[in-house]
Amino acid sequence: MPDNDGPLVPATTMRPIIHPAQFFGREDQLEIIFAAWKRVPLEHVIAVGLKRSGKTSLLNYLRFIHNKKKLRDRQRHDWIKQEYNWVFVDFENVRMRRPESFLRYVLKELQLPNDKSDDWTELAEILEDNIEKPTVILRDNIEIGLQLPDLDEQFWGHMRYLGNHVSELGFCVTSRHSLDELEKLAEELDKPSPLINVFGDIKLGPLTEAEARELLGCTSLSKADAEWIIENSQRWPVLLQELCRIRLESEEGEDWKKEGLEKIERYPDLLDSKGVQTLVWQDSNFRGVQTLVWQKSNFRGVQTLVWQDSKL
Ligand SMILES: Nc1ncnc2c1ncn2[C@@H]1O[C@H](COP(=O)(O)OP(=O)(O)OP(=O)(O)O)[C@@H](O)[C@H]1O
Ligand SMILES: [Mg+2]
Repeated sequence: MPDNDGPLVPATTMRPIIHPAQFFGREDQLEIIFAAWKRVPLEHVIAVGLKRSGKTSLLNYLRFIHNKKKLRDRQRHDWIKQEYNWVFVDFENVRMRRPESFLRYVLKELQLPNDKSDDWTELAEILEDNIEKPTVILRDNIEIGLQLPDLDEQFWGHMRYLGNHVSELGFCVTSRHSLDELEKLAEELDKPSPLINVFGDIKLGPLTEAEARELLGCTSLSKADAEWIIENSQRWPVLLQELCRIRLESEEGEDWKKEGLEKIERYPDLLDSKGVQTLVWQDSNFRGVQTLVWQKSNFRGVQTLVWQDSKL
């Protein structure tokens, strides 16, 4: 895990969170996930979430939280008692495009011999014969993997076999698509489903209010600013981080709110998911600036039009 030189909160990166100290919330989901791996045979889990909902950050947390270095005060880390192997696989990585390079990568991560053969079935045998301690393979963007032409029926069939018969092996899969959609996609592609006897079907929605407050509580924001951010981020972690950063980098005054609302408009999937759209419009005149915020909630069928933050 690379060292973290930036501030803890807000995370200054727009990349997935790597350092567990920068990862907030998801307590209920983590309980379910780690329950799947409490004992051998390990179970399998899928985490489904919209674009930028925090899937890759979750997988990074799962593999790095066990290293107790540089956590927040009282941050929980004792999810699993014994030592596990964690292998992170992102199907956007070209190395995952072919069975042999996929397996070579997994074997390398597990520090097992990986140059013995070019035949993927032989590499698969090495993997199966050498999984001695509990091992979790974290597979990000599974829908991309499923659609790769060289990862064929036989490859996915073998993955199912491993998931069904190797007790020390667990899978955690992430996707933007639901379980049903993935099953349908597999069927259309004539491939076996990549989801094996799913134990935990996790949804990555917004953080709970308490979790969002914990994140903001690690900053020097005023109570009023924190409240505004909670409301307008709709508690999505990426939006909390963005709005927090904009506020902390801004001058005194209220202009940051307009900038913040414009920024979060770039995440329509997240905002629309609760059926709320926000339109911001700023009007300058010789007396100052007024910001008009228009909110339309498809969810409740309500429309509001409010003048907000008049600075006269
Ligand atoms: N639990 C969390 N705590 C704090 N910040 C988070 C958390 N989860 C996600 N984030 C923030 O959200 C951003 C998006 O997260 P991430 O890249 O993991 O989402 P994703 O679902 O993998 O996105 P994509 O669908 O594009 O792959 C990160 O840059 C990070 O700032
Ligand atoms: Mg991702």
